[in-house]
Parts: sequence; structure tokens; C-alpha cells
Amino acid sequence: MKVISLINQKGGVGKTTLGLSLAARWHLSGKSVAVIDADPQKSAVFWKEQQSSDSRLSGVDVYSVGLPSEIRSSKNLDVDYVIIDTPGTDQMMTRSAVNISDAILIPVQPSSFDVRASAPTVQAALATGKPTAYVVNRFVHQSQLGRDVMTSLRKTPARLILKAMGQYQAFARAVGEGETPSTMFPGTTASQNVEAVGKAIDEWLQE
Ligand SMILES: Nc1ncnc2c1ncn2[C@@H]1O[C@H](COP(=O)(O)OP(=O)(O)O)[C@@H](O)[C@H]1O
Ligand SMILES: [Mg+2]
Repeated sequence: MKVISLINQKGGVGKTTLGLSLAARWHLSGKSVAVIDADPQKSAVFWKEQQSSDSRLSGVDVYSVGLPSEIRSSKNLDVDYVIIDTPGTDQMMTRSAVNISDAILIPVQPSSFDVRASAPTVQAALATGKPTAYVVNRFVHQSQLGRDVMTSLRKTPARLILKAMGQYQAFARAVGEGETPSTMFPGTTASQNVEAVGKAIDEWLQE
């Protein structure tokens, strides 16, 4: 089993969107996946509630966790992947999630404000000695800003996943229905993007 936490003290960077997209991709490839929703906003729980019972993602279980002490029981789940979706600001919760994780993903948007705001998160993650990687989210195709941010993130001590998540409405539309681009918009650029990012993350996890 691999436990992966999505963290970033900044909100709205795509922790939940990336977490659910990865969960869907692994599930569709035949792996068993559980999502732990440790954020009081309960976006992943909401995602599950919106899902129709005949969804191809009905096998992805979402568990709600309210206290940092409850996180540890995720280790008892009998699945291939546990994805922990954390709140931005609750440091105790994030620390508990990181403590039981095998790897840490830090979504970040391509802006200097966002990169700067993620610095304490990255430092805390690296201090654990666990594999830690940035994933750029909402990358605008062929944008100079996107390229500049990718270049600057490659120089930090954290790993950078070299495939970025693009800015696609399909992400927001699909998660509102308990789906992801992989199931709701198969064959589109957005679903190919999830596949490419997921593959790059798989390669990193297997190192
Ligand atoms: N790649 C993307 N393309 C388009 N919209 C996105 C993308 N990633 C996230 N969003 C939207 O941005 C908002 C914040 O994303 P979310 O995953 O909730 O961030 P966080 O969990 O870090 O707070 C949501 O409305 C989501 O639908
Ligand atoms: Mg979230």
C-alpha cells in the first residue's frame, strides 16, 4: 500500500482536484483506492455524494476524518493507494497526514505569489525526509509564465513532476458530478492530461 498526501497551506491550488483525478485514474487501471477527506470543507465527501450509483468510480471510497488522531487508522485500509486530501491551514492535521505518508504531493499554481506561499509547506515536507514533489496545476498551454514557474521549481530541493495539470473547465465540471475528466470526458485533452500527469507521478513513486 502507498499513502500519498496532498498538501499546501494555500487554498484553492488543486489539492482536491488532483487527489480525485489520481484516485480515478488508479481505480480505472484496476488498483484499489481510498480517499481520506481530512479537510473540514469536505469537498471530496461532496464529490462522492454527487456521484451516481452506476458511476465507473463508485468503487472509489471516500472516508471523512475530523481529527488528526483519526488519520492513523487509514493505514488499516486494505487498498493499493490511500490518498489524503488535507486542509490548507490545519497544520496538526497536515502533520498527521504527512507522518503516515509514503510520498507527498504539493500542487502549486503558476504564479510567483503561489510559489512563494508554498515555501513553508515544502520546507515542512522536506524536513520529514519523505519523497516530496511539486505538481503545477492550472498550467496555461504555451504560457511564458507557466514555463518560467516550471523552470524555477526545478531548482528547488523538492522534485518537480515534469507534466503539469492544465487549466481545463473539464476538471471543475466533472468533479461537481462525482466524476473526473477520465470518466466524464474520455478522450479529451483534459483526460489525456490526467493520464500524462498520473503516469509521471507513477514513475516518480516507483523510483
Ligand atoms: N486544472 C484545473 N482546471 C480548472 N479548474 C481547476 C483546476 N484545478 C482546480 N480547479 C478549480 O479550482 C478550484 C480550487 O481547486 P481545489 O481542488 O478545490 O483546490 P484545493 O483543494 O487546494 O483548495 C475548484 O473550483 C476547482 O474546480
Ligand atoms: Mg480541497
